[in-house]
Amino acid sequence: MRSLIDIMDLTVEEIDGLVSTAKDIMENPAKYAEACKGKKLATLFFEPSTRTRLSFEAAMYELGGHVLGFSSADSSSASKGESVADTVRMVSCYADIIAMRHPKEGAPRVAMMKSGVPIINAGDGGHNHPTQTLADLLTIHQEKGRFENLTIGMCGDLKFGRTVHSLLCAMSRYPGVKFVLISPAELKVPDYLIQDVLIPAGVEYVETTDLEAVMPELDVLYMTRVQQERFFNEADYLRLRDSYILNPPKLVEAKKDLIILHPLPRVNEIAVAVDDDPRACYFKQALYAKYIRMALILKLLEIEV
Ligand code: CP
Repeated sequence: MRSLIDIMDLTVEEIDGLVSTAKDIMENPAKYAEACKGKKLATLFFEPSTRTRLSFEAAMYELGGHVLGFSSADSSSASKGESVADTVRMVSCYADIIAMRHPKEGAPRVAMMKSGVPIINAGDGGHNHPTQTLADLLTIHQEKGRFENLTIGMCGDLKFGRTVHSLLCAMSRYPGVKFVLISPAELKVPDYLIQDVLIPAGVEYVETTDLEAVMPELDVLYMTRVQQERFFNEADYLRLRDSYILNPPKLVEAKKDLIILHPLPRVNEIAVAVDDDPRACYFKQALYAKYIRMALILKLLEIEV
């Protein structure tokens, strides 16, 4: 039985397979409409979500399956003190697969050890968000046609942004990828990712605070929200939250075939005026998320179509 806790649980070949299945689902949705007939997905969300939870639910419905679950810790017995381990043991009696989001780093891994069914990490604290990365990868492949030889700018909260951490790990496995890590000094990529991922993989990277200076060299610009919920101190959040605001003047020197991604939700970091720019791909990215999650559910349930 396979779970997905960390994007590195998947080989490059498996990611290629998921991207390929997701593209086939987009082209031939009817072929998959009953693939999960009789199967149930539980969505256990101990932390707020719009896209991840609803796209998982839409994914399961479009595969012909059913969905159960909760959307906040308050509406589950976690509020009475039940542990993640006990919750998951119970829910694996009711569902065939579980997607779980939790504010504590490592909670989905604990869940996996106690579960009788596959666990999908739908975001754990400031750590990882592997299915967002799958959505990001599908978007990059759809829009750029490749993963190799891309210069990827990651901008904003690179410290707490779990989607940044997972995408950085995933893309570091492709040849010719260069990262430009754009953040305030206080929100730099955690050192363990530099030491344990980028350096061993021999990936080229630069760290900078200046988005406009590096804009002309980027093939992909991955904007992120400053993660208010992970700050210990409100004053620091208020000081840092508007460090980067992407607007049309800042894109003047950008490549014509740049793609702009954002895992969403956005707050101020991309001006609404950018939404009409053909390079803005963040709403398409949210749509692609549903298709790649469909592909992932099929893979973990070992259903072949
Ligand atoms: N991208 C993402 O994880 O969005 P939600 O928090 O709305 O699920």
